[in-house]
Amino acid sequence: MSRDQKFFDVYSIVLGVSAAVAVAFLVLAMKMSDLTQGIYTRDADEYQAALTSRIEPLGQVYLPGEQHESSAPVAVTAVESQPVAATLTGPQVYNAACIACHGPGIGGAPILGDAAAWAPRIAKGADTLNQSALDGFTGVGYMPAKGGRVDLSDQEILDAVTYMVGQSK
Ligand code: HEC
Repeated sequence: MSRDQKFFDVYSIVLGVSAAVAVAFLVLAMKMSDLTQGIYTRDADEYQAALTSRIEPLGQVYLPGEQHESSAPVAVTAVESQPVAATLTGPQVYNAACIACHGPGIGGAPILGDAAAWAPRIAKGADTLNQSALDGFTGVGYMPAKGGRVDLSDQEILDAVTYMVGQSK
């Protein structure tokens, strides 16, 4: 065998092995890509849906004159006008006008629920307490007329006194 012939034989083998290795790599690469990114080829619909949702616009611009259902006029039912509460209840008046002093006991005000503080006052009689609340009262401290809320009616103040006394027995 000539040296050239031997060279060609060896060279052919090397080429053949190289080609086989290349094909093996190609098959391996295809397998790997199918395993890791198979969604692109296997589940085309799923991929398309995922892609669509990723790239869909956040909002849309409507130019003047263009109509969109969300801008269609909404039928608004007229809100029934509620009659303004004519009179406040005793607790409402207390919470609005009396709690500032009679809650914490500012300036010697008898605290709501403090039976000991209220007992001597209740003993004076309902008429006297009512009068104190309406006209004001100065004893150990200063109770302004109507608690300073002269806009409230006499009846509202009296209801508040009744409530406070009822809570403090
Ligand atoms: C600015 C503080 C203040 C507010 C507001 C206030 N009070 Fe008084 N109230 C007092 C003080 C202080 C006394 C105790 C007066 C005293 O004994 O010298 C008092 C005492 C009273 C007494 C007892 C009076 C008596 O003869 O012993 C009644 C009843 C009363 N308040 C009702 C009310 C009512 C009802 C309201 C809300 C409409 C109200 N107060 C709001 C400070 C207040």
